[in-house]
Amino acid sequence: MGKELFSIHTLSKVFPNGNPGITELSLSIFEGECLLITGSNGSGKTLLMRMLLGLVEPTQGEIRFRGLPLHKNMDALRREVGMVFQDADAQIIGETLEEDVAFGPKNLGYPKEVIKAQAHGALRAVGLFEKKDFPPRRLSGGEKRRLAVAGILAMGGEAVIMDEPFANLDWPGVVQVLESLRRLKTAGKTLIILTHELEKVLALADRLVILHKGMIREAGTPEGILDRLDPVYGVRDPRRTYTQVRDCIWLTE
Ligand SMILES: Nc1ncnc2c1ncn2[C@@H]1O[C@H](COP(=O)(O)OP(=O)(O)OP(=O)(O)O)[C@@H](O)[C@H]1O
Ligand SMILES: [Mg+2]
Repeated sequence: MGKELFSIHTLSKVFPNGNPGITELSLSIFEGECLLITGSNGSGKTLLMRMLLGLVEPTQGEIRFRGLPLHKNMDALRREVGMVFQDADAQIIGETLEEDVAFGPKNLGYPKEVIKAQAHGALRAVGLFEKKDFPPRRLSGGEKRRLAVAGILAMGGEAVIMDEPFANLDWPGVVQVLESLRRLKTAGKTLIILTHELEKVLALADRLVILHKGMIREAGTPEGILDRLDPVYGVRDPRRTYTQVRDCIWLTE
């Protein structure tokens, strides 16, 4: 396994209304791994992502990024960790795709020619180069997610965190995002994917974590965890196959 990228120690977040968002969560995330974090609605996936990005202060416990407390290493975090939120619209900054993707490398102070080369390379990698002068707001949902991925590629970061990358996407949209993820994995990047849609991406995962009520209930190889899946987690084993129309219903009996 690679070096430790994030280490999370007994992390807790209790909201002012008493809502326990995350309770005593400990986890190490390693360079180069594809970590899939799943769990039912409200299990704490998005909250954990926001905490990993330093957007929510813990009530207790600590997150370290590359061995340093997160708040002391925010520059490295911003440089190295790309994020794709569920709402890709919220991340669009530029008037054109090229401008949008160039934003990251520009912020890092790269020379103009480098910025252009990185932006073009990234747009090519996600299949959006032909649309480089297009206004991003007119892209489809799947294209917007791919644009967010291109932004990450252009920055040349080490890791990506994606929250529900397949939400509201049609089949081609899911395929587009998956292709970008596979490309990042092949390039040796760390992928942290938070989703309840295991059936779409599990094959890419090196490790699976199940969150339940803000606690880690399972962590390990996908096969091992699915073989002993407790129904209380509200996670469906995606290994079931559909061979007939009458099987195509998500009822247990
Ligand atoms: N600002 C807040 N105040 C109070 N409770 C909050 C707040 N933000 C999140 N929570 C609670 O934290 C818990 C975890 O929420 P989170 O959004 O992380 O769930 P999730 O696993 O991402 O769910 P989903 O699958 O629906 O996206 C929920 O019980 C939620 O109600
Ligand atoms: Mg969520």
